[in-house]
Amino acid sequence: MHLTFTIHRFNPEVDSTPYSQEFRLEVGRGMTVLDALIGIKNECDGSLALRYSCRSAICGSCAMTINGSEKLACRTSLRKELERHGHIAVAPLRNLPVIKDLVVDMASFWKKIREVEPWLVSGVRHGDEGSPAQVQGRANPQFHNVDACIMCGACVAACTVHEVSKGFIGPAALAKSDRFLSDPRETRSATGTRLSSLQGDHGIWDCTRCNFCVEVCPKDVKPMEAIIRLRRASLDRGLTKTGGAQHVLGFTALIEEQGRLNEAIMPLRVIGPSSRGLLHVLPLGIKMLFKGKIPYPFAHGLPGLSHVQALIQRVKRAIPPV
Ligand code: SF4
Ligand code: SF4
Ligand code: FES
Repeated sequence: MHLTFTIHRFNPEVDSTPYSQEFRLEVGRGMTVLDALIGIKNECDGSLALRYSCRSAICGSCAMTINGSEKLACRTSLRKELERHGHIAVAPLRNLPVIKDLVVDMASFWKKIREVEPWLVSGVRHGDEGSPAQVQGRANPQFHNVDACIMCGACVAACTVHEVSKGFIGPAALAKSDRFLSDPRETRSATGTRLSSLQGDHGIWDCTRCNFCVEVCPKDVKPMEAIIRLRRASLDRGLTKTGGAQHVLGFTALIEEQGRLNEAIMPLRVIGPSSRGLLHVLPLGIKMLFKGKIPYPFAHGLPGLSHVQALIQRVKRAIPPV
């Protein structure tokens, strides 16, 4: 069977703008998108640039945008893509600079991975209470599968925050950081330093929890859940000065006090009594007031408030410290 492929092309040395090019290729049963791209490169146009190595979903180098979603080309079945979309369109990963055709520049990705110091800061010394390996064995830590990451970059390309804020440290680096949070060999002070470094602009509180990183990850790493664990650990250790942390604490406190979110009080809880900060959100507040989105600030608790409070207490008791 012959199939038509639409492939994103761009060679910055000769092209002023990217363009799409169609190729027709004879395809067989069981072929992946990567098989087809290699076929196109070998039989139709040797100048097509793509990155791959293992062809087995291990090295992470063949991540690209296939029919609009971030996927590993080597484990994406042509037949399934065709059944679902009726065509095959291939483009580079989004939101990363294109070097040529399907190859993106991963420099910013690796820089962010390095920034989270992806190595163990061990406080266990030989001869103390056991070697690091013994401590690790005894503790039986849960890494929540974050160590399965193959650094493909798909989550970063799909991240809605990274799309608008390239400085955001991003889901892959944060998942990597979470892996060391779970390691019993790392000292408490090292973990504290690790978490403190993630509190600022572009850190853990920038994530909007859109879940796209979870959806596209080919290794089921669930980076968003790793970010939530990092946030919980930060709160547990008293790192509560950021707007994000104040938002979580203020939100929970309001639900506990009134049984519902009260938008009239929420800015005070998040920003505090700072007149400059409150002036900043005033225009939004006025708009919300006219749209009927702001309840009476001194509203009494909802009926059944005691049930909500009991539920919150129960959840708090059930969640172990990270
Ligand atoms: S959940 Fe957070 S980290 Fe994941 S894609 Fe959405 S904004 Fe990015
Ligand atoms: S977390 Fe998943 S999507 Fe992100 S780099 Fe690792 S393997 Fe790829
Ligand atoms: S070629 Fe290695 S993951 Fe696809």
